[in-house]
Amino acid sequence: MKTDQKRWDKRFGRKEFALGKEPNPFLKRHIHLLPKGRALDVATGEGRNAVFLAQKGFDVDAVDISEKGLKKAQKLAREKGVKINTFLIDLDQCQIEKERYDLIANFYFLKRRLIPRIKKGLKKGGKVIFETYLLEHRTFGTGGPKQAKYFLKPNEPLRLFRNFRILFYREGIFKEGGRRKAVASLIAEKI
Ligand SMILES: C[S@@+](CC[C@H](N)C(=O)[O-])C[C@H]1O[C@@H](n2cnc3c(N)ncnc32)[C@H](O)[C@@H]1O
Repeated sequence: MKTDQKRWDKRFGRKEFALGKEPNPFLKRHIHLLPKGRALDVATGEGRNAVFLAQKGFDVDAVDISEKGLKKAQKLAREKGVKINTFLIDLDQCQIEKERYDLIANFYFLKRRLIPRIKKGLKKGGKVIFETYLLEHRTFGTGGPKQAKYFLKPNEPLRLFRNFRILFYREGIFKEGGRRKAVASLIAEKI
């Protein structure tokens, strides 16, 4: 078993939802900009965003390396009376089927090598919604990863998605979900 898998299974193995049951605030606020249809939530964790998308009428595939996380995602889906498809997948190993999705959500999982696969997996006109920490966040002591490679450099998402149409972008320090965080958030369309 990979170290990451063990670590996340341990974190998600507790009864309470480590990352909460509420969707990411940026996703919630911008849901009206996202095209309905088939959605993929990469590294879904305990499914807070996948379940929200299902509640909004998306047909959702949710993938993660943590079995414990996916079990909780299914539990949350049952609680909310919706269905999601969960897949135990190591995103270091797998491909995303070409032009399968209308929407791909990528929250707090920075794997730069995954970006070309996300782009390929979107239909033309499909959208990606993305948010993760900026390097500044490391100094806050309010949670988040430890290694520098998991943090974004200034304007990095704009570079990563430069061949997409950028529909929304923000970068900075925001107080959301009850805590201060330095993040970049992006919505972009495959053209
Ligand atoms: C910070 S959590 C984010 C969860 C979710 N996106 C959210 O915002 O609530 C990072 C997630 O990445 C998953 N993960 C880590 N390495 C992975 C890999 N190689 N393949 C798939 N998922 C992975 C972890 O299990 C964990 O659920």
